[in-house]
Amino acid sequence: MACFQGLGLRVQPWVVLAILALLQCGSAQFCSFWNNNCIDPLAQTAVPFDFQPLFNDPISLYYSFDSSSSGKGEGPMTKTAFWLGYEDRKINPYAVNSNRTAEVALRVGNFTGTPAGTTNGCDGIWGKSCSRDIKNTLQAAIFQLTTSEGHWSQPLATALDQLMTNQPDLPSCGAPVFDVASIPVQDFAYERTPDQQVTVMKAGSSYRPWQVWYLDGMTAHQQASQVAVGIISRAPSYDSSPPTSPDDIQIELVCLQAPQGPPSGSSKDDD
Ligand SMILES: *[C@@H]1O[C@H](CO)[C@@H](O)[C@H](O)[C@H]1NC(C)=O
Ligand SMILES: *[C@@H]1O[C@H](CO)[C@@H](O)[C@H](O)[C@H]1NC(C)=O
Repeated sequence: MACFQGLGLRVQPWVVLAILALLQCGSAQFCSFWNNNCIDPLAQTAVPFDFQPLFNDPISLYYSFDSSSSGKGEGPMTKTAFWLGYEDRKINPYAVNSNRTAEVALRVGNFTGTPAGTTNGCDGIWGKSCSRDIKNTLQAAIFQLTTSEGHWSQPLATALDQLMTNQPDLPSCGAPVFDVASIPVQDFAYERTPDQQVTVMKAGSSYRPWQVWYLDGMTAHQQASQVAVGIISRAPSYDSSPPTSPDDIQIELVCLQAPQGPPSGSSKDDD
């Protein structure tokens, strides 16, 4: 980023001043492009969504990216990060009646459009029936897992791996939703019976993003025009009794876009 340029100059008195100014400018957000523990966002957005009944109040999905025009030496590259923000104390313990794991995933690649309308902006991208197809497909895949013998700690991550390998038929969706190289996933809440305990991961930030990855050949301009798709799940853990129906598996979709420009960190209203 521009903030770091000039640090390699020989030290002259005026340079010391310049470096002080640079440190000043870097102090708010200090993270190099190749550091995958943090992000200095070129663009960032946050979209609040309902995740009842576990959380009484909406929680927010944060999505941000940085870019490098030279990448690994050839061609552009972007760095993408996501995390959640929420009020830990607004958890509803009465929702806990089974061992469950909640996860959040973010898909970036080959979707353009402007988030609008219901299903947290996704229906404006691909229509209500496609949102329903995606939810049904994920519910069915996770439901099948819960009745299988496997020992999976992350139901959503496991189901997404399967769907990326064997592309499902999504008749109402124009684009192949699961046809990307990777969909990073983070588990963030664990519900345990019989004592109705809930453990929730600490909210993230640009200093502590939950997942960070790089997209080769992507320019900042291209990524700004892409729609990122958040998939949030709440599903039985492998050590719980299986759900009675796929509808017992909660899937929320959030479609968001990070416009290029200074990070605002502000919430975006999709209504
Ligand atoms: C986007 O689509 C193009 C053309 O279909 C394909 O070559 C490319 O791999 C896709 N990119 C991603 C990230 O899925
Ligand atoms: C839920 O998890 C707890 C603690 O890991 C375990 O003792 C209990 O047997 C599990 N409940 C069910 C229904 O499997």
